[in-house]
Amino acid sequence: MKQFGIASSASLLVVLLSAWPSRTIADRASQARDPEAEFEQIVQLLAVSEGQVVADVGAGGGSWAFRLAGRVGARGRVYATEVKGPQVRGMRQVVRARGLENVEVIFGSQQDMGLPANCCDGLLLRLVYHAFDKPALMRDSMRRAMQPGGLVLVVDFRPSPDQLTRDMNDAGFERVRFIEGWQGRQGIFAALFRKGASLSREGRL
Ligand SMILES: C[S@@+](CC[C@H](N)C(=O)[O-])C[C@H]1O[C@@H](n2cnc3c(N)ncnc32)[C@H](O)[C@@H]1O
Repeated sequence: MKQFGIASSASLLVVLLSAWPSRTIADRASQARDPEAEFEQIVQLLAVSEGQVVADVGAGGGSWAFRLAGRVGARGRVYATEVKGPQVRGMRQVVRARGLENVEVIFGSQQDMGLPANCCDGLLLRLVYHAFDKPALMRDSMRRAMQPGGLVLVVDFRPSPDQLTRDMNDAGFERVRFIEGWQGRQGIFAALFRKGASLSREGRL
């Protein structure tokens, strides 16, 4: 019994230690150094324009989604997805308080982002991809949600850019831009993918 206690405490410690560094990196990086400049670069890479439909996946407190809402305007739409209840409730409160009629907050899951099929011209995944429990299912979900030719911007530090590119290629996305040292941050990259125009059911071109 005592042995089991020691063994389970040791495994708990291993789990905590392995989760700690990536949480710290993500938490630190999620505080933008220059939010305005970063937002402009996001908008430019995703080619966001008035009337478009875009999604902020893993929107957290919603600051990027709310900014995007101003850019797509009243004729456009922003979906803000989250898997955590407090974040979903927090964003819904802001949406109500500010009367952001073009923002819809979606309670997603680790299997499915919960977005309508073919809804989106652009997807922003800022510091969320590394946290996916089931990345392959999330890539399937992305493919379903994207219009052909739509753009996906992944800003993250994990997996490696090569691994991410291979996995996204297999899911039917081609890499069109890559930036190392996103917004002057060592170890954070931005990778922009485009969904292929004609895909098989499996997502291969
Ligand atoms: C480090 S925060 C980044 C928040 C925001 N994107 C930003 O850049 O400020 C990652 C967020 O992704 C959410 N998340 C994790 N897995 C998710 C999934 N499969 N779908 C949607 N959100 C997810 C977490 O709950 C967390 O709020």
